[in-house]
Amino acid sequence: MFRFQEDKEKVIVGTCADNENAMGMIPQEIIDQILDRIDIVEVISGYIPVKKAGRNFKANCPFHDEKTPSFVISPDKQIYHCFGCSAGGNAIRFIMEYENTGFREAIEGLAARAGVKIPDDRKPGGEGASIASKLYDINKLAADFYHNYLRSDKGKRALDYLKKRGFNSETLSKFKVGFAPEAWDSLRKHCEGKKIPVELLRKAGLTILSEKGKGDYDRFRNRIIFPIFNERGHVVGFGGRVLDDSLPKYINTPETIIYSKSNVLYGLNFSKIGIREKSCAVIVEGYMDVVMPFQYDVTNLVATSGTALTPGQVSMLKKYTGTAVMVFDSDQAGESASLRGLDVLIEKGMNVKIATLPKGEDPDSFVRNNEPGAFYGVIDNAKGLFEYKLDVLIQRLGERNIGGIVDEMLPTITKVDNAVVQSDYLRRLAERLGVHEASLRHEMGKVKPDYSYHYETEEKPDKKSYNYKNSELHLLGLAVLDKKLFLRMREELAPGEFQDSSIKKIIDVVGELFDKGEDRINPGKLLSRFQQDEPAREALVKALAKAEITQDPGKALIDCIFCVRKENKEDKLKGLTLRLKKAQESSDDAEVKKLLVEINKLHKEKVV
Ligand code: GTP
Ligand code: MN
Repeated sequence: MFRFQEDKEKVIVGTCADNENAMGMIPQEIIDQILDRIDIVEVISGYIPVKKAGRNFKANCPFHDEKTPSFVISPDKQIYHCFGCSAGGNAIRFIMEYENTGFREAIEGLAARAGVKIPDDRKPGGEGASIASKLYDINKLAADFYHNYLRSDKGKRALDYLKKRGFNSETLSKFKVGFAPEAWDSLRKHCEGKKIPVELLRKAGLTILSEKGKGDYDRFRNRIIFPIFNERGHVVGFGGRVLDDSLPKYINTPETIIYSKSNVLYGLNFSKIGIREKSCAVIVEGYMDVVMPFQYDVTNLVATSGTALTPGQVSMLKKYTGTAVMVFDSDQAGESASLRGLDVLIEKGMNVKIATLPKGEDPDSFVRNNEPGAFYGVIDNAKGLFEYKLDVLIQRLGERNIGGIVDEMLPTITKVDNAVVQSDYLRRLAERLGVHEASLRHEMGKVKPDYSYHYETEEKPDKKSYNYKNSELHLLGLAVLDKKLFLRMREELAPGEFQDSSIKKIIDVVGELFDKGEDRINPGKLLSRFQQDEPAREALVKALAKAEITQDPGKALIDCIFCVRKENKEDKLKGLTLRLKKAQESSDDAEVKKLLVEINKLHKEKVV
């Protein structure tokens, strides 16, 4: 439904907050009020540079890579649209996409700007909230519970451990580090006291149903707790570390409605500002490797939490920067798994570098053991992916194993989107190995786009496009923008003559508004009525974009009406012909006869 939410889990993760509005939390009048008071150009220009171009404004699209601007903002319509990647919507949508936030978050931000108060009748875990928002609330409650326990007398043992490892109090508060009691049911009881159903605790992954029929017990016991925040700062899950050497060292929240480990980057909520400021994201492995460097003012890190980097995570980062530095510890350096994980960055058009830490160090220990600023020194000295990978391969396979090296290097090079860079890589590889560039090119032709490995989650195409009839779409755009044209269209075409249900739906809403006495529709506001309805939203944006570039709307309207009728006729003919063929195959003579008559009649009908 939204940008990153094509995976099943992701759909839920990304839209839960949006559904809050589907629950009727924010009345449409309030949304209209907010949209009346803000200006989309002002909103968007707060995020990206925009330039005036005639009545509209233009910008380089922030949602795909481009050098010439195809991103248009219309102050009249209060919408934006990208002709390159078809992103589009109103101001709310822009913020949701750009910040990767939910509907409620986006609208709350805009409401604050507009000075509109949103009525808030939510209670933690209360009736009426969506399951997802209940889980957010419960997670927050649990994070507070663990954090308070750490700060209590009983948390002394854990607090001592953390202090010994160098954490200061401010850091513990910022990251809301906590401690889970040793008992089997502390959290469960705490929540029972707050009348939270145990089913919800289980759904949040905080308790586990005992197989012995003894009800639920706490998942996290006697562990240091790191709440895992999503990009927006909601607690979506937890990582729990033992205080000694016992195993497993960490346990984590399982996949839940709001937590999917391949779609979260630990620390991103804190570091997104730093990443943008420094135009670089530093990718590390563990919770400790984010939290401790932060304490030492390294503020652009995220952690994958022990898994290989996924395409979804890279997409999240790409909104903030085009450069990523992976920090490897020295024994990790040669692992082919980590090398291949880098290809996902390349594919997404990231400039990838690799920094290696001295033997035995991870980012956590490194910042503690070195002068301030030394960590940034390591980052600045990071090697380009190409050099790095080649060095590792040569070291591992030996300089003379040209076949082996080429086999590993070519798939990576193939993934480089930029032809100039790709060419440069090939030339350098040939030079380094002492082979002809031409033979490398020849070999490259044989490389399958996707080789032996796979990612943990497969990413579906970034944007699904719905298949609308062009003429219906164009017609819709023209009719929304001009009441006279709308009325004309309604005279000419019956609702049944539209084939696309989304388009029909929009026309109904627009018709109602006009009938109520509106003379002009604010497309930005109209869009907010279809916030939950992706096909309708997409149709409307496309329709408006088409209408925007129409020279003579009156004439275009007539042409479109003609086309819609003609297409309907053709579709009907196609359907009849198909049935005819079937009837002929099954020698159903009566049916054949009947269909032939119908087809003939239709042929003679004139489209006017
Ligand atoms: P310290 O050893 O306390 O410094 O923690 P660390 O975060 O540096 O741990 P490490 O480098 O061993 O692991 C990196 C990350 O992998 C951790 O932060 C966890 O997210 C994850 N991880 C490590 N061990 C386990 C484990 O036993 N189970 C799971 N599920 N994840 C783990
Ligand atoms: Mn560590």
